[in-house]
Amino acid sequence: MKIALASDHGGFLLKEQVAVYLRQQGIDYRDFGTDSEESVDYPDFALAAAEAVARGECTLGILCCGTGIGVAMVANKVPGIRAANCHDTFSARMSREHNNANVLTLGQRVVGSGLALEVVEAFLRGKYAGGRHACRVEKITAIEQKYCGQGTPGQ
Ligand code: RB5
Repeated sequence: MKIALASDHGGFLLKEQVAVYLRQQGIDYRDFGTDSEESVDYPDFALAAAEAVARGECTLGILCCGTGIGVAMVANKVPGIRAANCHDTFSARMSREHNNANVLTLGQRVVGSGLALEVVEAFLRGKYAGGRHACRVEKITAIEQKYCGQGTPGQ
C-alpha cells in the first residue's frame, strides 16, 4: 500500500501528523506538499496527489486542508477519484465499504489530531464490500464518462 499525501497551509500540521502515523505503521507514502504553513492554493497540491492515485502510482490518498472540503472538491474532479470528506470513523469505514472511496479528506480546523488519526485508521482498514454497492459505484463512473469522456483506472 502506498498513500498519496497532500495539504495546503491550512492542513499542513495535520498532514505532518498523518505522515508520522503512517511511518509508525510502516505504511509507505509519497508527500506531495505543501511543506510549510505559508499560504498556498489547495488545488495545486490536491490535484497532484489525486492524479497519482488515479494513475495507480499510489493506492489511496489522504488530503488535508482547513475543512477538507476544498481538497475534496478538487480530487473529485479527477476521473477515477472518489474522495470522501470524513470526520468520524463510521463515515470513513463506510466510504471504503460502500463507496469504494480512494481518497480521504480531512479538515485540520474541524477535528483534533487524535480523532483525525482514528479516522485515517478506519479508512485504511476499510475494505470495499462490492456486491449490491458495485452497480452504484459503476453509475458514478458512468457519470464521469458522460462528462469527461475518460475511462477510470481500476481501483
Ligand atoms: C485556507 O484558508 C482554506 O480555505 C483551505 O484550507 C480549505 O479549508 C478550503 O477548503
